[in-house]
Amino acid sequence: MKGLIIVGSASPNSHTRALAQFLKGQIEAHHHEVEIFDLAERPLHMLDFSGQNPVPEAYQRNAEQLKSLAMEADFLILGTPNYHGSYSGSLKNALDYLNMDYFKMKPVGLVNNSGGIVSAEPLSHLRLIVRSLLGIAVPTQIATHDSDYDKLEDGTLYLSNEEFQLRAKLFIDQILSFAKNSPYEHLK
Ligand SMILES: Cc1cc2nc3c(=O)[nH]c(=O)nc-3n(C[C@H](O)[C@H](O)[C@H](O)COP(=O)(O)O)c2cc1C
Repeated sequence: MKGLIIVGSASPNSHTRALAQFLKGQIEAHHHEVEIFDLAERPLHMLDFSGQNPVPEAYQRNAEQLKSLAMEADFLILGTPNYHGSYSGSLKNALDYLNMDYFKMKPVGLVNNSGGIVSAEPLSHLRLIVRSLLGIAVPTQIATHDSDYDKLEDGTLYLSNEEFQLRAKLFIDQILSFAKNSPYEHLK
């Protein structure tokens, strides 16, 4: 099976990216493929149907990559920082490039990180979007805080909180189990 993790932080080396990296490791430990699409590294132009604003080629390529990875994915994970009590604008913009064809009856995991008071509210907001896209947001979700991470010598962040490491494993088990059993295959 193939998965796609979309990271919606505006910062490279974000906490959300570090969480995605941990989740990737768990998925690969189950011998499944997964790619991280970090919007801080592969930004998208603001969705624009006017045709009047030239979109740089690199941005066009990123959009094409995102669409092809999302179409191929058997499951998706949406990762976002907490921005103003919700998910990030760049993640919403990325989702606006996709439609039901990319999500229909696929399991979707939701994760977020807050720098202030820990909140899962961005995930509740994302749940509504996933429902609109006919995806299946799995019940387990992960809402971390900056303090759940440490830095390696080169400054790269990693998820260091052991409780969240365990939760992340259960979260991945759940997503893979939904994807494998695919009870809704006939509804696609
Ligand atoms: C535009 C913006 C809005 C933010 N709003 C909130 C907020 O409402 N609550 C909060 O706890 N942190 C807020 N933060 C702080 C981020 O959650 C914090 O920087 C966090 O580390 C981001 O995670 P990341 O490293 O994955 O990007 C905000 C940051 C930005 C840039």
